[in-house]
Amino acid sequence: MKPFDITTVRNDFPALQQQVHGKPLIYLDSAATAQKPQCVVEAIDEMNAKLNANIHRAVHYLAIQCTERYEQARETVRRFINAQKTQEIVFTAGTTAAINLVAFSFGERFVRRGDEIVLTEAEHHSNIVPWQLLCERKGAVLKVVPVDDTGRLQTERLPEFFTDKTRILCVTQVSNVLGVVNPVKEIIRLAHAHHVPVLVDGAQGIVHESADVQDMDCDFYVFSGHKLYGPTGIGVLYGKEEWLEQLPPYQGGGDMIASVSFDKTTYAGLPLKFEAGTANYIGAHGLAAAINYIQKQTRAAIHAHEQQLTAYAARQLSTVKGLRTYGTATPKTSVWSFSMEGVHPSDAAAILDKLGIAVRTGRLCADTLMQRFQLQGMIRASLALYNTKEEIDALVNGLQQVQKMLSGH
Ligand code: ALA
Repeated sequence: MKPFDITTVRNDFPALQQQVHGKPLIYLDSAATAQKPQCVVEAIDEMNAKLNANIHRAVHYLAIQCTERYEQARETVRRFINAQKTQEIVFTAGTTAAINLVAFSFGERFVRRGDEIVLTEAEHHSNIVPWQLLCERKGAVLKVVPVDDTGRLQTERLPEFFTDKTRILCVTQVSNVLGVVNPVKEIIRLAHAHHVPVLVDGAQGIVHESADVQDMDCDFYVFSGHKLYGPTGIGVLYGKEEWLEQLPPYQGGGDMIASVSFDKTTYAGLPLKFEAGTANYIGAHGLAAAINYIQKQTRAAIHAHEQQLTAYAARQLSTVKGLRTYGTATPKTSVWSFSMEGVHPSDAAAILDKLGIAVRTGRLCADTLMQRFQLQGMIRASLALYNTKEEIDALVNGLQQVQKMLSGH
């Protein structure tokens, strides 16, 4: 196995070879969506161009090839997250779709008026709003576990949130704003001691951390392909078989049925019960290519590289006057959100963009964290396996220029 080599890795990503505004692209927005390696681009292109037919239906050559690839992708995902069974892997359109599925189907089956859903202050909108919709539908109540000033989830307070009305705990593995890694294994152990099942939002976590669902013992785990160097429009819901078996379908349509008559429809078994309509088989194949790519680099090498970048970014960002970072608790992944005294985030981002540096700004799909830190918005630099220390230096230089231009520091 070749050791992790950053030059080779960067060459694998066509998007990183381009210039924007006449400057080499420095892409620091991977928490929003990551760039794709050439092998993923080719996997998708080949299926779009040639190997295309609907799956699970016809018996002709193309249909069989596509079906096999789709089901192989399911097995690739199963191994990647160490699920016990392939039927526990449901393909969805992404993290948001997966959480909506659970919020609806779990809610239909298990949530009644007055029941309680517990989530945390560090959740992305996609792990808040579906639960609010459920609460509105059912007359249930949301309870929110706070984070402290360093962005650490106050897990020691969890027991006070669990009552005999608690139906589920929803927690992110890694906050998309703070980058702080939540101790999900410990949280799940605590929740289970109170007979509360747990949904883990792994959208950021699976990119940077281990995602062994059996070791974590989570009941549901969700993630997206496009943040994991794969295609958009594909994601995964992992659910323990005993839960998925008990949930009613989320959407009705083709492929999710066993038989249909006007009197009664019976449903397909897992996982197809939750995969109504034509599945995104090309996306699933692309996701499998992305997972194979990550495994070729090795998770350990990617983690070590990103941790070096994280430590370096912490040191370098602290040299910028008037800059305050959010999410300083450890362990932490390579996601840095910050504000700058006297500088509007959008103005900073516009100047950085002209220097070829792509960062995200605004409320970061996390209004509740903005409220927690009393800000209208933040600037976020999120680093991935292909970023370098030189790019962090360029960001810091860019931020110093921003300070000079906009705040006179
Ligand atoms: N969830 C994505 C982000 O954090 C869009 O930017």
